[in-house]
Amino acid sequence: MDFLALKGETRLQGAINIAGAKNSALPLIALTLLTTNKVILENLPNVVDIKTFFSLLDMLGCQVCEIDSHTTSVEISKLNSTKATYDIVRKMRASILVLGPLLGRFGHCEVSLPGGCAIGARPVDLHIKALEKMGAEIRIEGGYIVATAKEGLKGTTINFDKITVTGTENILMAAAMAKGKTTIINAAKEPEVVQLCEILKESGMEINGIGSDEIEIYGTNMEGLKLPEKIAVIPDRIEAGTYLCAGAITNSQITLHKINPNHLGAVISKLEEIGFKLTFNHDSITIYPAQKRNSFELSTTEYPGFPTDMQAQFMALATQCEGSSIIEERLFENRFMHVSELQRMGANISLRGNTATIYGISELIGADVMATDLRASSALVLAGLVAKGETNIHRIYHLDRGYEDLEAKLTKLGAQISRLQE
Ligand code: UD1
Repeated sequence: MDFLALKGETRLQGAINIAGAKNSALPLIALTLLTTNKVILENLPNVVDIKTFFSLLDMLGCQVCEIDSHTTSVEISKLNSTKATYDIVRKMRASILVLGPLLGRFGHCEVSLPGGCAIGARPVDLHIKALEKMGAEIRIEGGYIVATAKEGLKGTTINFDKITVTGTENILMAAAMAKGKTTIINAAKEPEVVQLCEILKESGMEINGIGSDEIEIYGTNMEGLKLPEKIAVIPDRIEAGTYLCAGAITNSQITLHKINPNHLGAVISKLEEIGFKLTFNHDSITIYPAQKRNSFELSTTEYPGFPTDMQAQFMALATQCEGSSIIEERLFENRFMHVSELQRMGANISLRGNTATIYGISELIGADVMATDLRASSALVLAGLVAKGETNIHRIYHLDRGYEDLEAKLTKLGAQISRLQE
């Protein structure tokens, strides 16, 4: 197994490009299950989760053709299966995104239940309840969600009890194939949901309320869609936020290209509150060193609030801010796995329920640490950049799921990082 060896006490400088958003690419790949034409997906991040999802489509019988490492075409003439097996779903719970499109278009599907997850229970009950309300018959059998809607799904009003990103995306794709109008109340407003809605609109669907918490969509009654021939994935706001934290924790000046600053509002405001100056134009952003880094408070919430996917990185940053910072995690009950690893590097953090208090400034010291989930792992990389001595980060397959060319990008910025074999 690979691990990352990282030399600390680094200053970064220079510029890198940010990849396409994994969390936007995934629903767009699922959307191709509704197409009647060949679709070319562009600006795909070259990460393991994307490869896993394409292998699922391949297993279903789609013609998936990799054009280059960031571009893949998908065509569907006839599916040979509507079953997403445990093997794939256990690798990536976002495979649940095939549930809505498969059921909506083909009237039947089986999707393995995702099961437990490192950051909490993460149930899919809201996806299932919504599809049942649209007329699906759903039973759980042998660990699989077995769903049928022989006559197709029917448009209705779905009022989500909680805001769910992949839940909203699943129901949007199911509703696109349903008969009549579906209204989604309490819909997620993340940029990734907005991109999915915009592509549906470009495909000729009548869809209102894009970017709001109430979306209305008129379905085609199981008729496939003519999707745009080329779809370019939006920039990854979480990868961008992570590198902004790399600049912030090392108190360096770095520039990120190919980003959308409009998607980074909460992260930019928090960095400014800490004391950093940032300048940006339509697709790039520069962070400058701060004279003093102030403590801060944050609570994770749904977009446009502070993203839970940036919580761990800001916790690493808080160890280098003066005074006590408070971080409250409101979306996932067990998303503090990085705390004990940061403590092993010398961070002074106390944890009470879903709130962490971080006392700065801590002198971090390189250690052997273990990646536990995708974003927690990036917090360890950030801590390693400033720690004294060498940090070895194990189980980096978590990082490979979502960060493209991490070592190459950090090396370009001046970090000393290498991938080694255990
Ligand atoms: C998506 C993102 C993930 C991000 C998360 C929150 C993708 C592929 N993943 O995950 O990176 O951290 O949004 O921004 O886009 N819930 C239920 N029942 C359900 C569904 C969700 O109780 O059926 C709960 C979850 O346990 C969680 C909350 O709702 O507490 C939000 O989860 P959700 O938005 O669904 O997260 P994902 O879509 O899985």
